[in-house]
Amino acid sequence: MGESIRVEIERILPGGVGLAHAGGKTVLVSLAAPGDELRVQVEREQGNVLFASVVEVLAPSPVRIEPPCPYFGRCGGCDFQQLTYEAQLAAKADIIADCLQRITRMDHVPHITVHPSPNNWRYRVRATWQIDQDKREIGYYERGSRRVCDVAECAVLLPELQETLARVRSTDWLEFPPELKHLDVVTGEDDVSLAPPFGEFETNELSLRVGSEVYQYNAQAFFQINPALLPQLMEFALSDAGGETALDLYCGVGLFTLPLARRFARVVGVEGNSVATRFARRNLQQADLTNARVVTASVAEWMRSKSGEVDFVLLDPPRAGAESAVIKGMLELHPQRISYVSCDPATLARALKKLIAGGYAIESVAGFDLFPQTHHVETVVLLTPT
Ligand SMILES: C[S@@+](CC[C@H](N)C(=O)[O-])C[C@H]1O[C@@H](n2cnc3c(N)ncnc32)[C@H](O)[C@@H]1O
Repeated sequence: MGESIRVEIERILPGGVGLAHAGGKTVLVSLAAPGDELRVQVEREQGNVLFASVVEVLAPSPVRIEPPCPYFGRCGGCDFQQLTYEAQLAAKADIIADCLQRITRMDHVPHITVHPSPNNWRYRVRATWQIDQDKREIGYYERGSRRVCDVAECAVLLPELQETLARVRSTDWLEFPPELKHLDVVTGEDDVSLAPPFGEFETNELSLRVGSEVYQYNAQAFFQINPALLPQLMEFALSDAGGETALDLYCGVGLFTLPLARRFARVVGVEGNSVATRFARRNLQQADLTNARVVTASVAEWMRSKSGEVDFVLLDPPRAGAESAVIKGMLELHPQRISYVSCDPATLARALKKLIAGGYAIESVAGFDLFPQTHHVETVVLLTPT
């Protein structure tokens, strides 16, 4: 333990770590670039795998750049700033392909394109800020810990959110509720919403146009982090879908429910958060879409009692992926197409394995870089019955 070794990074793996081999062992190095020659410090050993961090860059990869953020390395937010943007996209395509190969066990993984974000910096409309009231620190968790990294300026926040961060940071500590440990914050077209509300900060209702639809939401409901890339993602996820009945599982405030309601005669959205479902119903109403209904329920519970004809299922579960009962329920409904939107390629790949075993084939896959400067990537997979 603690020894320092010399390695060459072969590629980036799911989770964002660099892969190397040394002395018959696999070495996983955080904050590395493919092609780097590094001296690394081993921090932890698990079986044949060494977890290590960079001590010295002996020969930099051609895709390595100087991370511009002063908090890089300590802050747990961004772990890809050491890569050129092109290399970030290539690494994300490799991450998706790796999951499809190793977890889904696809024989022929198709070429995967990761669509770039229109902005690689200052793109985030939503964040969660961690607060340590004893130390009077506000920011994000440090990498691999629950300690707060005090962040005065975050280069991936939209300017409006950065301004709000500065205002929160300059608020008198006496105004902070004693139990406040984190703040959810999101911006819209002309306002900012914080939850929980405190002092001058309110849980305002916001609105934002995405493509041709307008959505209302607030900081208590999920909203996608990088709306600038959403129109492209939605076009791919909805493809040429149309017909009688569609389901939008884990529908949030109705991002996909609205466009689905324009393409299908009947749509049902299912979502567990009642604040989100309230907004989803309002968003449908304001768009004059009366052919969709939104249910507040656990998707797994709701699927257990669902039967009948369904043409199209779009699902966009949280990072943990769709529960087994949801996969089982979808296989029983046997829709003509499934559109799986996922922010975690590994849980997606596990679900795909079950869907393929259940009689579906992957029609197309694409990545969307909703999270520049981090290893995270949004993947959309369209499936049809074999
Ligand atoms: C990744 S978000 C997607 C939301 C929406 N499709 C969008 O793009 O804005 C996942 C959503 O699933 C909801 N959710 C998480 N677990 C759930 C469950 N077991 N049943 C129902 N909804 C759930 C969350 O509240 C969140 O709104």
